[in-house]
Amino acid sequence: MEKQHLTIAGGGSTYTLGLLMSLISEKDNFPLASITFYDTDIERQQKVAEASKVVIKEKYPDLEEFIVTSDKETAYKDKDFIFVQIRTGGLEMRIKDEEIPLSHGIVGQETCGPGGMAYGLRSIKDMIELVEDIRFYSKDAWILNYTNPAAIVAEALKRVFPEDHRLINICDMPISIMNGLATLINRSVWDLDPGYFGLNHFGWFTDIYDTEGHNLTDEIKNKILSEGLQPESEIAEDPSWIATFKQVEQTLRDFPEYIPNTYLQYYLYPKKMVEKENPKYTRASQVIGGRAKEVFEMCERISARQTIADEKLEGDVHGVYMVKIAESFAYNKNEKFIVMTKNNGTIPNIPKEAIIEVPALITSNGVKPIQVGEIGTFYKGLMESQYAYEKLTVDAYFEGSRLKLLQALTLNRTVVNANIANDILNDLLEANKDYWPNFA
Ligand code: NAD
Ligand code: G6P
Ligand code: MN
Repeated sequence: MEKQHLTIAGGGSTYTLGLLMSLISEKDNFPLASITFYDTDIERQQKVAEASKVVIKEKYPDLEEFIVTSDKETAYKDKDFIFVQIRTGGLEMRIKDEEIPLSHGIVGQETCGPGGMAYGLRSIKDMIELVEDIRFYSKDAWILNYTNPAAIVAEALKRVFPEDHRLINICDMPISIMNGLATLINRSVWDLDPGYFGLNHFGWFTDIYDTEGHNLTDEIKNKILSEGLQPESEIAEDPSWIATFKQVEQTLRDFPEYIPNTYLQYYLYPKKMVEKENPKYTRASQVIGGRAKEVFEMCERISARQTIADEKLEGDVHGVYMVKIAESFAYNKNEKFIVMTKNNGTIPNIPKEAIIEVPALITSNGVKPIQVGEIGTFYKGLMESQYAYEKLTVDAYFEGSRLKLLQALTLNRTVVNANIANDILNDLLEANKDYWPNFA
């Protein structure tokens, strides 16, 4: 197998160490010649890189080269894969994305509702620049992007790079939910073959088979209704994720046709989601005091001791998913994964140009989505209005139109009321003035 040259953009991310462990656990299937970390925050990346050196020395001695850089040419020249996980404005701006809507009684969430819009308008500029830089140095590299809000980022990138078929946006929520579903029936997540459709953070599992053709859907639904669904792997112990997975039970009871993506809770039960939150200590603060703190403390310990012995550090579902998809691109494995792709008739009764999230075969010739067919009125209505919100947000970015931002927020199920949309928008404009383009 030909060895790959990989760059991780956002090398200082809280997910990098987990991703590195996933690359190590998959190294026989996705062998690497080199790993390069690239980040605009050199100091932050260095902390992760120092620990990564120790990890590589112990667990990946056959890796030929490990490079740490903030130079674009070094990062992107002659690479086969670029994994992207950046956060424009950092977790500090995420606090504002969440607190501002909540101060108006509206869902405050990283990717859903006004918070998602705010984050999206920050991410677009950096993501366009990043893809332009990559394409300047490596025109054929596969770009696997995780950067959120993935729906809005994907819609914007589609407009600037319409013919770029090696640029793929991926979310780990479907596999993370499948991980929980698999545990309910004592199976491995990699044995499950799902039917799924939707937009990013806005979709449904229609059925779940195993790889031998048994339909497990009813068994799984019954287990959810009788036992509830729990998060697994790296998020298993997190109270916020435990509550989110628990909510799937009620959603399935109310809408028993399909198993919902956890993110639908914000659109279907917005009032309940607002009531659950502490508007002065939102998820962003939990992450800063939790995952981010733990990751950087672990990095310090590993660097000080020069060993990863005694550390709980392993490949996670988030990372392994990304790596397995990369394997399928690299070696034309034709394996099926849920990814984002342009609709183009995969769901014939919603707009052709929409970015949808569906199972697709991952090949060396690109993403081959599997036909979904027409969807029911409820799902069509929800998806079209959500897609209109996403589209208007991206239109607003390129046109500098405040009106379109107001239209987007008014359409969003988490907001609806135009007065509230206007008030939130004013606060978000003020908070994001260093990041957003000018809106007239
Ligand atoms: P983080 O802030 O901890 O890390 C992001 C890193 O990116 C930082 O080190 C930062 O310095 C760097 N960065 C910021 N702008 C950059 C730029 N223009 N070029 C290069 N580097 C840049 O964030 P995190 O919590 O680790 O999350 C990283 C990203 O992954 C976020 O966008 C998050 O939403 C996303 N994410 C997506 C999924 C998914 O399902 N798609 C899952 C998990 C995380
Ligand atoms: C899931 C979603 C990601 C999101 C992450 C946020 O994995 O698919 O899109 O970034 O959750 O998690 P956090 O723990 O930061 O709230
Ligand atoms: Mn996601």
